[in-house]
Amino acid sequence: MKNSIYQGGRHQEIIQLFAETFPFEEDKKEGSLIGKLAKDLLENTSNQYLKVFISMHEGVISACVIFSKLRFKQNHTNAWLLSPIAVKPTARGKGIGTNLIKYAHGVLRNGGVQIVTTYGDIRFYSKVGYKPISTKIIQAPLTIGCPKCWIAQSLENHEIKPITGKTYCVEAINDTRYW
Ligand SMILES: CC(C)(COP(=O)(O)OP(=O)(O)OC[C@H]1O[C@@H](n2cnc3c(N)ncnc32)[C@H](O)[C@@H]1OP(=O)(O)O)[C@@H](O)C(=O)NCCC(=O)NCCS
Repeated sequence: MKNSIYQGGRHQEIIQLFAETFPFEEDKKEGSLIGKLAKDLLENTSNQYLKVFISMHEGVISACVIFSKLRFKQNHTNAWLLSPIAVKPTARGKGIGTNLIKYAHGVLRNGGVQIVTTYGDIRFYSKVGYKPISTKIIQAPLTIGCPKCWIAQSLENHEIKPITGKTYCVEAINDTRYW
């Protein structure tokens, strides 16, 4: 298994990976909702706001994690949102997901990223350093239905200081269905 920064050219394979991973979130018109999210991120989001990491095995993409930029109204903290992640069903439970996230964090840290956040299950994400974060410290970009699923970590090993004001995500994920 080899982790790398996605260099483009395989959008369809990645979209398919997410669509197959989340088939139950069927949206009748559009198919898999997370497949649509992956497509919107890859096809309609400026490269400067997107960082995509893949794990390859025998020429096939076995896992992918996408980060997109989070911006703040009055603050220039370099923050990114992890969403979504998928590991092929046959490859799960072998450390590939946690390994890929740790690799991505390393690349992001070296690139000056200070904070990563996500909206997900802490039972998984705690294994790669995420902790619940109050919306009083960092607002979620949209109203969240599960406050304990709003989680984050400093890549600089600092305590996260409160960031005042509104948070903005990229347009692809600016949709209440993902929150
Ligand atoms: C979640 C996912 C990305 C994890 O990748 P993976 O390669 O299977 O995970 P790893 O082998 O690195 O797992 C590491 C640990 O996470 C745990 N874990 C895996 N999926 C989990 C889940 N959905 N909830 C809670 N814990 C989970 C494993 O039990 C393992 O724990 P252990 O080290 O204590 O045994 C992958 O299983 C997947 O694509 N699942 C479907 C999509 C999904 O649920 N994505 C969102 C995650 S909130």
